[in-house]
Amino acid sequence: MQQTNVNKGETPEKIKEMDIVFSLLKWYGKSARILPWRERPEPYNVWISEIMLQQTRVEAVKPYYERFLKEFPSVEQLAGAKEDRLLKAWEGLGYYNRVKNMQKAAILVMEQYGGKLPEEYEELLKLPGIGPYTAGAISSIAYGKVHPAVDGNVLRVMTRLLADDRNILSQKVKNDIGNILYEIMPKDKPGDFNQALMELGATVCLPNKKPLCGQCPWSPFCKAKEEEAQSEYPKRAEKKRKRIEKKTVLIIRDGEKIALRKRPKEGLLAGMYELPNLEGHRKKEEALLFVKEIGMSPVRIQELEGAKHIFSHKEWQMIGYMIRVEELRGKEQEGLIFALCEEMEERYPIPTAFGAYTKYMSIRLGNEKYEQKEIE
Ligand code: ADE
Repeated sequence: MQQTNVNKGETPEKIKEMDIVFSLLKWYGKSARILPWRERPEPYNVWISEIMLQQTRVEAVKPYYERFLKEFPSVEQLAGAKEDRLLKAWEGLGYYNRVKNMQKAAILVMEQYGGKLPEEYEELLKLPGIGPYTAGAISSIAYGKVHPAVDGNVLRVMTRLLADDRNILSQKVKNDIGNILYEIMPKDKPGDFNQALMELGATVCLPNKKPLCGQCPWSPFCKAKEEEAQSEYPKRAEKKRKRIEKKTVLIIRDGEKIALRKRPKEGLLAGMYELPNLEGHRKKEEALLFVKEIGMSPVRIQELEGAKHIFSHKEWQMIGYMIRVEELRGKEQEGLIFALCEEMEERYPIPTAFGAYTKYMSIRLGNEKYEQKEIE
């Protein structure tokens, strides 16, 4: 076969002619990773895995996925889950609204679709937390429907293939790439095609200066490779600077318990449990004053290390103090809860934003907790 490079603005017809679809599927057949959600690509499993995979890497997702399916094995169980259990199962993954939306969607699926996720892309799109990517992934992988699934990996592969230098944050660019994929995808294997593209992005067409072009089935067709400009794609318009919030985190404890506070029902990390904290970076004296104001008697204060946590739109810059008080019992007020350390690990979902401080209480969050147990 004569190999021609794909040029920017190439028509889908031309791309099809070049056998690039065949070479991708052949590569996927040989190189696909064995992943738990690929063994039984049922709609519910695909949904859970795809939402989790939007948060983090495949390797990090695996244990979360197994535990989640064990605890909530069906749409029905997810719909009826207690919020604390749900957030606990998600602890460490971040973007906690995603799991809350999954529960809202599960309730709708119970009410309107008899507990089975709908097959049609447009119906899936109506469910909370399911956007074009997730609807494309579920409908193609679980139901064999012809829809592209354009995530960050796919955008990187496609903009390199076509040397497309437009801003990938623009919806128009995502749509254009989705339209090309729709035209070229094999109508009998849309799920394999979508997953092959994602897999290529995740394992070969790696970001920055790291693509493994020697292993890439599309290397002969790739315009960015021809220009030796792989690291220049994809292009993104400058991101907005994140807002910085300073906080003083307090570990307030007596001999056996630690003070926690439930966050409000709405907003960032809604419904999770946090260490009490004050706005701004406070001096020791101010932290002690706060503790006295809520009726406790501090006996010792220790300054802890500073820590940073980056959210999608803001950054917390934290300092912390461990404050030993005479007794926490009987003084539950100001929305504080007094929890035993063992209870905290099992019962209260705590955001990893506090991970730098929970380690002072020998509490492990999210995966860390399970990794440790597996070693023991
Ligand atoms: N990333 C997100 N979903 C994926 C999938 N189904 N296969 C490979 N990588 C993925």
